[in-house]
Amino acid sequence: MTPHMTPHANPLIGHRMGLGTWNMGESPLTRDSEIAAIQTGLDLGIRLIDTAEMYAEGGAERVIAAALKGRPTVARDSLTIVSKVLPSNASRAGTIRAGEASISRMGCDYLDVFLLHWPGRFPLEETLAGMIDLAERGLIRRWGISNFDLAGWQRWAQLEVALGVAAACATNQVYYALGARGVEFDLLPAMLEADQPLMAYSPLGSGGLLRHAGLGRLASDLGLGPATLALRWIAHRRGALPIPKSSRPAHVEQNWQAIHQAPPLPKETLAKLDALFPAPMKKMPLAVL
Ligand SMILES: NC(=O)c1ccc[n+]([C@@H]2O[C@H](COP(=O)([O-])OP(=O)(O)OC[C@H]3O[C@@H](n4cnc5c(N)ncnc54)[C@H](OP(=O)(O)O)[C@@H]3O)[C@@H](O)[C@H]2O)c1
Repeated sequence: MTPHMTPHANPLIGHRMGLGTWNMGESPLTRDSEIAAIQTGLDLGIRLIDTAEMYAEGGAERVIAAALKGRPTVARDSLTIVSKVLPSNASRAGTIRAGEASISRMGCDYLDVFLLHWPGRFPLEETLAGMIDLAERGLIRRWGISNFDLAGWQRWAQLEVALGVAAACATNQVYYALGARGVEFDLLPAMLEADQPLMAYSPLGSGGLLRHAGLGRLASDLGLGPATLALRWIAHRRGALPIPKSSRPAHVEQNWQAIHQAPPLPKETLAKLDALFPAPMKKMPLAVL
């Protein structure tokens, strides 16, 4: 925010999970189920939706628009809608155009958080200048970044200071799941310290974790499905905000239950998970999907 602007509170704080939408909008065959999945999430009370201009080239954002249209009682100001600009579009003018286009596809008046999808060829100063323009015009509440490692996240924070908009970044959205725990070494603690939720993308490893034999056995010993066990694990990681994706209403409901209706996992289960998926003992390169 420029010095004359009052920054909005971080809209990500207070959510326990969000709905991912990657791969939605790709095919008319799955569209009804995708809309129903998002609506199931809304009916359960989930109010955070994650998307990007990249997903089906705007198709996922159109699916969200259709889902929201069918739920007119869900107030816009109760929702937190996150979208992302592609690095190849992230010049100042391109960032502005991308934000406006995402808003227009979703018919949502403004974005709550607008992220740079990953670091690319445009100088970050340019992207941030575009974000500031969008914020000044009320088209985004806050901005953020995605797929930045600790050094990149710190550099972005320094840029904000240089441009007079210190501490306005809402999040760094990164891959964080049982099979990708590297961020626990440095990025997650640094973000916790800065009161910035880490949006944990692909908390089911994009589906890969569900085929992990050890996780499957442990889950089955506990009478759970692997998705439920993986989400119960991440739900209690301080500072992490998971955004699992499902195009099936029944899975969205399972995921909601895993996060909202389950106590923290017992110590013995956590120890077994640590043995299967060890916490990092040293700095690891940022995992990216
Ligand atoms: N910033 C980035 O660069 C970035 C990168 C990747 C992802 N993301 C965001 O994070 C979101 C989540 O990540 P993701 O989509 O990669 O993967 P994910 O949420 O880790 O896993 C999704 C996969 O798990 C399946 N699934 C979900 N719930 C299930 C359940 N209860 N039982 C069985 N299978 C289940 C889904 O299939 P069904 O649909 O059939 O249920 C889908 O195949 C994305 O959608 C996107 O919004 C961001």
